[in-house]
Amino acid sequence: MTFDHITPIYDRLARAIFGKAIFRSQIVHFNRIKSDARILIPGGGTGWILHHLPPDCKEVVYVDSSLNMIEKARKLNVQFPVSYYHACIENTNLNGKFEIVIANFFFDLFTEEEVERIVRIVDSNLTSSGILLVSDFRNTGIWWQRILLAIMYLFFRIVAGMPAKRLADWKNILIKNGFISISETTYCHDFIVSEIFCKSNFNS
Ligand SMILES: C[S@@+](CC[C@H](N)C(=O)[O-])C[C@H]1O[C@@H](n2cnc3c(N)ncnc32)[C@H](O)[C@@H]1O
Repeated sequence: MTFDHITPIYDRLARAIFGKAIFRSQIVHFNRIKSDARILIPGGGTGWILHHLPPDCKEVVYVDSSLNMIEKARKLNVQFPVSYYHACIENTNLNGKFEIVIANFFFDLFTEEEVERIVRIVDSNLTSSGILLVSDFRNTGIWWQRILLAIMYLFFRIVAGMPAKRLADWKNILIKNGFISISETTYCHDFIVSEIFCKSNFNS
């Protein structure tokens, strides 16, 4: 799978379909990010969210398997240190743990088995008091959302070689792996959800 071919139009395409909601959803919970946090962003795309992080965060580790996405993100001017990895998150050697992981429109790329694998990676790299911020689509059963999802999966299979054919139940996988949802905000008639997860041993 590669998003290299659609890097130049990715953000414009997202905005054309979902309007500002797709951007708002990705940053709505950023007030939960403490300054001085170490942040992991898998599948960050063009990197515009970097401009919305606290300017005094300690370090951002930015992992994307698309070289064009990484190059675009690298051109952004931010005040905190960012380590860019052109790699799949599954194959990245991440040094140390993170207080924040941001997975925006990332779990939707994968099959249930792959999401399971990635969730375990996130779990092992998140501190016990850390939080996972997710923005993504969800299956509501609403007819027009089912059609739109089918069109999106077909489109991304053709242009990006995305193997997943349907939206995995990523929330269920997170919960099975010990994550607890502590807050959610929805957009586009509940089609998009922004959720904050912590680990079940958060208070122990
Ligand atoms: C749907 S885009 C979302 C980009 C961004 N998070 C956003 O919402 O604007 C998914 C991104 O994940 C990257 N990606 C795909 N598979 C990946 C993997 N295994 N590890 C890291 N990044 C990956 C793609 O290159 C792409 O930039």
